[in-house]
Amino acid sequence: MRDPRRVAILISGRGSNMRALVEQADGYEVALVASNKPQAAGLEWACQRGIATWALDSKGLDKEKFDRQLSDALDGHGIGTIALAGFMRILSPWFVGEWQGHILNIHPSLLPKYRGLDTHVRAIQAGDSVGGCSVHVVTEELDAGDVLGQVEVPIEPNDTPESLEQRVLAAEHRLYPTVLKEFVSR
Ligand code: GRF
Repeated sequence: MRDPRRVAILISGRGSNMRALVEQADGYEVALVASNKPQAAGLEWACQRGIATWALDSKGLDKEKFDRQLSDALDGHGIGTIALAGFMRILSPWFVGEWQGHILNIHPSLLPKYRGLDTHVRAIQAGDSVGGCSVHVVTEELDAGDVLGQVEVPIEPNDTPESLEQRVLAAEHRLYPTVLKEFVSR
C-alpha cells in the first residue's frame, strides 16, 4: 500500500536537501533514499543513518526500464510520496503518470522564472534583484507543475553564481521540509 507519509528521496549527488529533509522530518518518514548514481555522496550518508537505500546506474539504460525498476523499489518500501532533491534525470511519462500528483521537486529559482539549469547565472545576468527557490509538483513538463511554496533571496550587487547558490541553498533547506510536511498531511 502506498502511504503518503512514507517518503522516498531521489538524489544524484551531494544530497544536502536530502539531509535537510531527513534531519527536519516531521509528519513524514524518509523510508528510502534512491539514486541513479551508485556513487552519489548522499547515499552513504543515508545508509550510515540506517535509512534504506536503492541505486541503479541509469547510464545507457532505457529510460522507462530504469523507471519501472525504481517504481518497483518504491512499492517495495510502501512509499506514497516522492521528493526529488537534485535528481538529475528527467522521469519518463510512464513514471510521472504512475505517480501522478505524488512527486515533488525543489528548484533553485522563483518559478515560473528560470526553468531548467544554470538558474543563478541567468538571474544575475538578467540583473534581477531577487532570486530564490520553489517547491513544485512534478508533471511531464520540466519545472512546470503547481508551485506549493517559495522563498525569496535578495541578490546583492557583488553576488557571484556561487555566493548566490549558497544563500539559496540555505533557503531550500528551510523550505522543503516545511512544504513536504504540509503536503503529506493534506
Ligand atoms: C539544489 O540546488 C536543488 O534546488 C536542485 O539541485 C540542487 C541539489 O543540491 N534541484 P543538493 O544535492 O540537494 O545539495
